[in-house]
Order: sequence, then C-alpha cells, then structure tokens
Amino acid sequence: MCGKPGPATYNTLIMALEVVVLAAGTGTRMRSAVPKVLHNLAGRPLLAHVLDTIEKLDPSAVHVVYGHGGDAVPEAFADRQVNWVLQAQQLGTGHAVQQAVDHISDASTVLVVYGDVPLVSAGMLQDLASAASGTLAVLTAHLADPTGYGRVLRNGEAITGVVEEKDADAAQKKLSEINTGFLAAPAAKLKTWLQQVGNDNAQGEHYLTDVIALAAQTSKVLGRTADNTNEILGVNSLIELAQVERIYQVRRAQQLMLEGVAISDPQRFDARGEVTFGSDCAIDINVVLEGPVNIGSNVSIGPNVVIRRSVISDNVVIHPNCVIEDATVGNDCLIGPFARIRPGAALAAEAHIGNFVEIKNSQIGKGSKVNHLAYIGDSSIGENVNIGAGAITCNYDGANKHRTKIGDDVFVGSNSQLVAPVSIGEGATVAAGSTITNNVPAGALAVSRSKQRHIAGWKRPRKDSKK
Ligand code: UD1
Ligand code: CA
Repeated sequence: MCGKPGPATYNTLIMALEVVVLAAGTGTRMRSAVPKVLHNLAGRPLLAHVLDTIEKLDPSAVHVVYGHGGDAVPEAFADRQVNWVLQAQQLGTGHAVQQAVDHISDASTVLVVYGDVPLVSAGMLQDLASAASGTLAVLTAHLADPTGYGRVLRNGEAITGVVEEKDADAAQKKLSEINTGFLAAPAAKLKTWLQQVGNDNAQGEHYLTDVIALAAQTSKVLGRTADNTNEILGVNSLIELAQVERIYQVRRAQQLMLEGVAISDPQRFDARGEVTFGSDCAIDINVVLEGPVNIGSNVSIGPNVVIRRSVISDNVVIHPNCVIEDATVGNDCLIGPFARIRPGAALAAEAHIGNFVEIKNSQIGKGSKVNHLAYIGDSSIGENVNIGAGAITCNYDGANKHRTKIGDDVFVGSNSQLVAPVSIGEGATVAAGSTITNNVPAGALAVSRSKQRHIAGWKRPRKDSKK
C-alpha cells in the first residue's frame, strides 16, 4: 500500500518516506535476454520481493527506475501502484536517482534500494530511513571478501566517502567495510548533492556514491551496519541467483519448521509462491511446491513430489514421485507412488490413487480406488468405485473430448476400455478386458470380449536349427 504514513506508523521518522528502486541496469553478467529484475527467486521476480518488502514501510510513494529491457519490467508489474521512471541510458546509479528526484517532494525522506538485492529486511530499511533525519545515512557491511564493492572511507569514526573498486588504490582495496548501496537522505539535500555529481571516474559514470563525500563536507554521515550480510547480497549472475535462492529456501524451511512443519532436509526443499500448512505435516526430500498450495493438517509428502496450485486436505499421504497440478485432494486420500494428478482433478475423501495412474479433469468419488496403471480423463466417478489395473477411459476421438460417467459402487475390471461418451450405471460390473462402447445399465454385468477357445495339443514354433 502506498498510503500517507500517519503519525502512528512512524514515531522516529517524521517526514514522509519516498523509496527509489534502481532497476535499470543491464545485468550483463546474467547472460540473458530477460531483464535482471524479472529473473525469478522462489518463483517470483526479484523485483517483486523488493517491492513487497518496501510495502511494509508504508511509503508515500515508490519510484522504480527502469530502462534495460524496456517496457517488459513495468508490464510485468502492471498491477502495482508505483511510479515508473524511465532511465533511457544507464549512465550510472547517481544518474538513475537523478531521474527519479524530480517526482519527489523536497519535504520527504528518500530511501534508495536496489531491485536486484531481494533479501533485505523491512526492519533494516526502516532503521536506515529513520537514521536519515537531517543527514545522509548509508548501510555498510563488513565482508571477508570485499572485491567488487565500493569501500567505505573513514576518518576515525567519521564516514568521509565511498570509493569504487575500479577507482580504489591498493590501500583502499584492503578495506573490508563496503557500501551496500542502500542509503537514505532528506530529499532537498539529496537533490543538491546529486546536482554536483560528475562522471570523472574510471567508469565514466555518475556515481550515486559521490553524494556521500559531498554530504560529509557539511554534516555527519551516519553509518548503519548490516550484521546479516545475506540481506545485502545482490544478484549479478545466475550463480549468485542460485546462492540467493538457497538462502531464501533454507530461511523459509526454517520458518516452517518453527511453525511445526517437519522438513527432512531444508537444503532440499523448495516452496515457490504462497504455500500454507496445517499442523503436523511432514515433508521428505526434494519436494517442490509451487503456490498457491494449501496443505491441511497431518499430511505426509514423500520424496520427489511436485505440487502446483492445489489444495491438499487433512490426513493425506502422498507417496514418492507424484506430480499434482491444479487439483483438489480431499481428506484421507492416498496417492502414489508415481501418480500424476492433472488439472481439473478433484478427489473426494478417502480416494486411493495408486502407481502409474493418471487422472485429468475428473471427479473421483468418496472411497473410490484407482490403484494401478490406469487413465481416467474427463470423467465423473461415483463413490466406492473400483477401477481395475490397466483400465482406461478413451476420452478423445482424435477431434473432440467426451465424458465418461460411472455411478456409485461400480466395479471396472482390469484392462477395460471405456469409450466415451459412455455411462456405467450404479452397481454395474464391467468384466476384465472389455471394450465398452454402449451405456451399461445399473446393476448389470457388461462383458465385451471374444469367447475363450482351446486348441488342444498346440505345438509352439521352434527356432530353425543353425547350419
Ligand atoms: C554499486 C555501488 C557500490 C556498491 C555496490 C553494491 C555505485 C557507483 N556503486 O556498485 O559502491 O558497493 O553497488 O552492490 O553506486 N542501475 C541503474 N541505472 C544505472 C546503473 C545502475 O538503475 O545507470 C542499477 C542497477 O540495475 C543495480 C543498481 O543500480 O540494481 C546497482 O548498479 P550496479 O551497476 O550493479 O552497481 P555496482 O557497480 O555493483
Ligand atoms: Ca551490482
């Protein structure tokens, strides 16, 4: 939400907060045609994570500076209430912020964040913004390997500036305190400093970091230190994206474990998007959950299971190696191993779906069993039905799809084909090996297979003897 912060929201920060998100960079090292901030972390664009975090600060406005990749970035976030600021040429971080400041009230506090640093916490940003009353506040960190970052220059305790790696001398390169890039300042002052930033440096860019030395000339620059350096990790390559993804997933797994979800190995757990759990759930290794997924209580998920956009109710057991997509699963169902539950599948309570069974766009009634090697497509199956091994619904005639209706208490023998459109009446039995093309009346036995005959004394062919 971008409502005006009321006095109750901010007790330390009196001025309105406006956030500038830098997201125009080329992201060359990603080696991708997709703009960097649209690359996914946990199934959602990097920028989505940053915008969600900013929202928690309740800023009066959010300005996103975009450029590389053109309109793809604003289009991907068409539903967000942000002010899109085009930086047509990427002339540096200072130039990027300069594009946004014209839209910012002099009376506001400006917080600058990066669209490619997705793990930053709202608490840390709020602390930084609060520190910037009347002066510039920068977020720094101490890194064992500071290579590539701007180094923080200090005179005693006082911050005097930041020097970029490419402009740093040998002594400066040895400094381990780095500039995270996050800073906050009163808007009017920031605008004045930005006007003085040139591009006389190793990269010929307008550096945002130059405002730090300018601020230090007239007032004390406040430093805040990020204790958790995971929060300030930026994504510049697919290697870093994978590292950030792991940190995110382990964090999420730990949070879920604190909430009572038993996760066998947080290093082999992936939840993307919104995923919720009831109590006493257990998740084995290599499970991928793509939200929205709602999982009830006392659900057990075996190894190598993928669940996308589905609802799993209470007391469900999902055995190893199942794929469940756009489906609903009722209480006390047993699924798998090796089951594929496809879009539009709705399993009522106590249904059993066994190995090598595919269910698509079908309702399976309460207590019904499809336990082995079957295909059920475009079907409505009643309660307490048994579908034998190898039975299939022939739902597709090559041009159109047709429905199969199966009443309560039907028994479909093994290896039967039900050629849709067709219906099997309540309590009917289909003999094994039948091909059913006509509706079966309730209570009847349908047999459609050639009669068995015997040829006595049959001699099997023998292999020709070799010369
Ligand atoms: C910047 C800082 C450096 C800091 C580091 C932290 C400057 C000059 N340097 O360096 O001190 O240690 O971040 O990661 O600020 N961007 C634009 N438009 C541009 C240029 C960049 O929007 O013209 C965006 C990028 O998309 C990115 C962010 O600004 O999100 C940072 O740019 P990047 O080029 O990665 O800066 P660094 O050289 O890493
Ligand atoms: Ca960077």
